[in-house]
Amino acid sequence: MKVGVLTGGGDCPGLNAVIRAVARRSVSRGHEVVGIRSGWRGLVDGTFEPLGSREVSGLLPRGGTIIGTSRTNPYRLDGGVDAVLENFRVAGLDALVAIGGEDTLGVAARLHSEHEFPVVGVPKTIDNDLSATDYTFGFDTAVFICTEAIDRLHTTAESHNRVMVVEVMGRHTGWIAVMSGIAGGADVILIPEHPISVEEACADIQRRHERGKDFSIVVVSEGYELEGQGDDSEIDEFGHVRLSERGVGARLASLIEQRTGYETRVTVLGHVQRGGSPTPRDRVLATRYGLKAADLVHEGRFGRMAALHGDAIVDVSLEEATAELKTVPEEWYEVARAFFG
Ligand code: F6P
Repeated sequence: MKVGVLTGGGDCPGLNAVIRAVARRSVSRGHEVVGIRSGWRGLVDGTFEPLGSREVSGLLPRGGTIIGTSRTNPYRLDGGVDAVLENFRVAGLDALVAIGGEDTLGVAARLHSEHEFPVVGVPKTIDNDLSATDYTFGFDTAVFICTEAIDRLHTTAESHNRVMVVEVMGRHTGWIAVMSGIAGGADVILIPEHPISVEEACADIQRRHERGKDFSIVVVSEGYELEGQGDDSEIDEFGHVRLSERGVGARLASLIEQRTGYETRVTVLGHVQRGGSPTPRDRVLATRYGLKAADLVHEGRFGRMAALHGDAIVDVSLEEATAELKTVPEEWYEVARAFFG
């Protein structure tokens, strides 16, 4: 078989570990593996590169993706889907491994259901918002980076008696905020799924100061909606607004300072959360997902996605995985909330 691999959407730590695992297992079975440049863009344009044993050597600790990524949506381009199908055929490909989040895998699911396209999926995103899997790879590394940042902000907040607002990524879900907030001991966490008001947040901070703690750490997820906040940010090909442009962290910090009178600063972690080497947990998860994807291809089980259920790697339908977002359940937010104020 000739197997194509693409990485789509925002990059994340562990992509290269998946590529390595897919290639190693497939090559050992006598298949040929080809990298598709820059996500779906590479199938629209027909840009490929070999992925043999030499090309995937030394990839395990490397962040980013060696085959590039993009947020190209072939369904939004004139003739985009036809070009994908045609370039796939002309390149002599028999199967595709699509590594991505809801957008990339949404395209894969649609191509499979509408054209019987031979694709399998691997769940990637620092946001951890994909249904049908307990965890996506990349999330653990992002939480690790945010937790380290919160730890560092604690010492400077304490020295200056300040409130520190930390804005983290996560798009429409607050997984990164909640997990890093719990791990870093945040005093208040604001997420889109369980939105406490700015007044409640300020009351928590004040309560904390009244019991002698004159600094506080506030974690806010970029998707948290502040009252009166407009949405004129840029929209990508999948219809998402660029949340970082709304500056929720800076606006929240200024509201907290106005309402409490406590000196407040903001740190926006941004793309630092997606960069660098994956944690051991993400390397292992990405490797297991890559092997599973290669197995699904070898068995001709298309339209499936590798997933983590408990400690087992299983497969689920791409449709199920992309049907809805996995949001933070109340019980997780309650764990965080037990330490507010
Ligand atoms: O989906 C991953 C993610 O990092 C989100 O958390 C964030 O909103 C978005 O991508 C940022 O996208 P870009 O890198 O295109 O600015």
